[in-house]
Amino acid sequence: MANSEKFKDIVLPRHVGVIMDGNGRWAKKRGLPRYEGHREGAKTFRRIAEYASEIGIKNITFYAFSSENWKRPPQEVNAIMQLLREYLDEAERRQKENEEKGIRIRFIGDLSRLPEDIRKKIEEAQKLSEEKTKCTVSIAVNYGGRQEIVKAVRDIAEKARKGEIKPEDITEADIENCLYTAGIPDADLIIRPSGEKRLSNFLTWQSVYAEFYYTDVLWPDFTTDDFDKAILDFANRDRRFGGV
Ligand code: IPE
Ligand code: IPE
Ligand code: MG
Repeated sequence: MANSEKFKDIVLPRHVGVIMDGNGRWAKKRGLPRYEGHREGAKTFRRIAEYASEIGIKNITFYAFSSENWKRPPQEVNAIMQLLREYLDEAERRQKENEEKGIRIRFIGDLSRLPEDIRKKIEEAQKLSEEKTKCTVSIAVNYGGRQEIVKAVRDIAEKARKGEIKPEDITEADIENCLYTAGIPDADLIIRPSGEKRLSNFLTWQSVYAEFYYTDVLWPDFTTDDFDKAILDFANRDRRFGGV
């Protein structure tokens, strides 16, 4: 069966969040340095992003590097930045293929702290794919949910200072419009592999009514079958949003 037909009769999440966790443990189990786990995890990311688009997911956000991950040893941080560079270079090389797939690439997070060359590549990748509408793949880098809310508060405070908005008129929609994810629906489903059961500062505002799916599989081992399991599990959840 074609991937596009697979889930045509079930309710798909409008926005999936994926916490790509377990790369370090994957490497450790094999006696490899941690960056080898990140390298393998980056391959999983490519596979799952493409697959999600094929089965009809419209929005998917991958947590690649949190605002807290700077606490890691510099060699590990550098290795992750290098993988990001390689991904962006590849995206540029494969522009034609990507175009046919209809994938829009976006980055969310405080990008100002990233190396200059990566920021440039990000801008290019975003620009090259900005017209694509089949699936929006967001990559969260130096992202923190609280930091994102602080950013929104600052933006709104600035508007209030200029007299463009009155404090008593501020709505949830005003806040949403100032988040990195403006224009993307709230997360319906959040997947976390590796056995950890926490959000770790991911999509704080957007996850208030998200369904959570956890699996012990480590991210580098995560397959399209694992993704299917999460999608089917989601389809069977009874979502009430506070109603009956
Ligand atoms: C996730 O894998 C990748 C990043 C946080 C950048 P980890 O590196 O956290 O892997 P574990 O949790 O140590 O196994
Ligand atoms: C969350 O994983 C961040 C990413 C996957 C990018 P961590 O491994 O950093 O989270 P904690 O430290 O276990 O909460
Ligand atoms: Mg981890």
